[in-house]
Amino acid sequence: MAGALNTPRRVALLGATGSIGTSTLDVIARHPDRFQVQALSAHSDVEKLVELCRQFRPACAVIADAARHAQLRDGLRAAGLATAALAGAQALVDIASDPESDTVVAAIVGAAGMASTLAAARKGKRLLLANKESVVLAGQVLVQAARESGAQILPIDSEHNAIFQCLPADGGRGGVRRLLLTASGGPFRGRSRQSLEKVTPDQACAHPKWVMGRKISVDSATLMNKGLEVIEAHHLFGLPAAAIEVLVHPQSIVHSLVDYVDGSVLAQLGNPDMRTALAHGLAWPERIDSGVAPLDLPALARLDFEAPDLGAFPCLALAYAALATGGTAPAILNAANEVAVASFLEGRLPFLGIPALLEATLAAIPAEPAGDLDVLMDCDQRARRQARELLNEMERA
Ligand SMILES: NC(=O)c1ccc[n+]([C@@H]2O[C@H](COP(=O)([O-])OP(=O)(O)OC[C@H]3O[C@@H](n4cnc5c(N)ncnc54)[C@H](OP(=O)(O)O)[C@@H]3O)[C@@H](O)[C@H]2O)c1
Repeated sequence: MAGALNTPRRVALLGATGSIGTSTLDVIARHPDRFQVQALSAHSDVEKLVELCRQFRPACAVIADAARHAQLRDGLRAAGLATAALAGAQALVDIASDPESDTVVAAIVGAAGMASTLAAARKGKRLLLANKESVVLAGQVLVQAARESGAQILPIDSEHNAIFQCLPADGGRGGVRRLLLTASGGPFRGRSRQSLEKVTPDQACAHPKWVMGRKISVDSATLMNKGLEVIEAHHLFGLPAAAIEVLVHPQSIVHSLVDYVDGSVLAQLGNPDMRTALAHGLAWPERIDSGVAPLDLPALARLDFEAPDLGAFPCLALAYAALATGGTAPAILNAANEVAVASFLEGRLPFLGIPALLEATLAAIPAEPAGDLDVLMDCDQRARRQARELLNEMERA
């Protein structure tokens, strides 16, 4: 097994320039004897990717936007690096499948991470899974692929990482009554639906506890993030929606809980910093320093819990409904949400237009049996087209 006393783990990090990517590299840099960066990827931020290559010296770097290939190649050459410059969507799949790496961190945002995440699952990698959208889109396919190849999925979403830590280590579910996913409530917790009419992207992205990319920040503000996580938990832990509940916990210290039939409730606590989950996934089953400060419970003094307000934040109910419908419904929900969030961030859609666009897209495209990956990917594309058309209609109205 790779580790401190053996050969280092060789890590392919997809989405290296993002928030999760940055936290991953922070943990890796603390343990140069344990981890070696094999590959890094970005979508369009060539400058940052070259800088990361200078620091971590990977064998290859991928820029997903193929139009920037030459810029990456020239940047690496100018920096005097031997790192190979690759580009395009297929190159992401190639580095996720490359036998030179044993660990893949899936930290691309959105369904754009689907193919590379699935490739890592198919190739039996240790898969640190942050890219929740691919689980929502094709959870069954992904989990099945990991089962067949022997890939170990280590959830990186802090809630799922907490649940992973609190469930029996043998993978059994005996005695589990329910999972309790905590939610900070986002920047608009406690506000009425009406008062959210004019909130801006910057207000939505000003998360009170977590520093994250803009898409997931908006998802946290609408509570769709928690909805996506309910679907993710269903696939990763094999429990029905009725056994997965959401609990608002504004301090973001208890990352989630498992309730057992004997009345025991196991929770994982820690400061709100993704490096804990990433260090856990990178070193599992060992424990390594993540750089996260120890928890000071007396300073915190109190931990609060409340039920989510589904009236003000209807996206969570939409996600439960999509999971209950099953088939392609979660894929439609995810695709429409990606279009809606991007449009909100561009100033084309008001905050309350996000759930409206999701509802309209779900109503326009009937769910079908999920079938295989092709059916799901086709559905993803159709839902995006439909959502864009509906958005245009909303703008004209
Ligand atoms: N941030 C968190 O604390 C957190 C917590 C739990 C789960 N997650 C999940 O982790 C994933 C990443 O989130 P994040 O907050 O780190 O996002 P982010 O900061 O926006 O970073 C996204 C990364 O993906 C790359 N990327 C974007 N679009 C791409 C595309 N079409 N093809 C290939 N690469 C693309 C970006 O490259 P460029 O920089 O070049 O654009 C960047 O490296 C999401 O699924 C999110 O839900 C995040």
